[in-house]
Amino acid sequence: MPPLLLPLFDPAGLAPRMTDMLRANSLLFELRRFPDGETYFRADTDVNDRDIILLAALDHPDEKIAPLLFAADSLKDLGARSLTLAAPYLPYMRQDKQFRPGEAITSRTFAHLVSQRFDKLVTIDPHLHRYRLLSDIYTCETRKLTAGPLLAQWISENVKPPFVLMGPDSESRQWVEEVASPINADFIILEKTRHGDRNVEISTVKAPSVPDLTPILVDDTISTATTMCTAVHQIIDAGYSPPICCAVHGIFSGTAYEDLITAGATRIITTNSVAHECNEIDIGVLLANALGKNGKEKQLV
Ligand code: R5P
Repeated sequence: MPPLLLPLFDPAGLAPRMTDMLRANSLLFELRRFPDGETYFRADTDVNDRDIILLAALDHPDEKIAPLLFAADSLKDLGARSLTLAAPYLPYMRQDKQFRPGEAITSRTFAHLVSQRFDKLVTIDPHLHRYRLLSDIYTCETRKLTAGPLLAQWISENVKPPFVLMGPDSESRQWVEEVASPINADFIILEKTRHGDRNVEISTVKAPSVPDLTPILVDDTISTATTMCTAVHQIIDAGYSPPICCAVHGIFSGTAYEDLITAGATRIITTNSVAHECNEIDIGVLLANALGKNGKEKQLV
């Protein structure tokens, strides 16, 4: 039997093409809120003995966690054979230790909630920093994908050399290296000290080594854009032209997108792991390929 794909949260509209590539069937469902704000979920397709892929864009997760858990429990109760969570963006990865006494380590709690219900998690560029592997906290099967080669492809097709990649902090090294490798790009990693949600310091940048060098900032996530804005200022102060900003996941809390443009970014590019007007890179094929079984999925397009 083909898998069933349930696009619980899919503002980027990934589901139709993924359903086609996976030769899956659509799982019809109803999700709404009761007048008191509680969640109502109903599967409108027979799920008994079926393998289910639940697609959920999990940025701004708190409003989505309850529906996610209710849907998962209900599908298992209705006889689903297996449940895979396809979460292009995996939330709650950055609170990976107690930075101050008494803080909740929410990454563990979220991992527990997901692992209890899903057989498998497939995600893209999760923020692995103090955790080395997803399996450090997730007990279900996990598969980590990277959008690095897709970002590299976008750069090689859209940015005229010479360019240099820049990571705003040591954590970004892993993503910068993945983008730099396929296109043999030079890169520089800056140093960041975080003092608060919207207060970071970034080390000064050396002046450009060659004229007309385009700087390209690369990071996994833009949230408040404080990191990127601070890095943009340092790069411009060092004598570079205004940079292009690339991230896998563009969450853009509040006015983050506008703030980054005001800071001086010439272009802001993200994947559609989180739906936004600056999505220029599609991760649908990457996700579908990872979810396909035994090569039965259609060829890459
Ligand atoms: C954390 O180190 C991440 O790699 C990003 O640099 C961070 O999440 C960006 O957050 P913000 O946009 O709020 O500075």
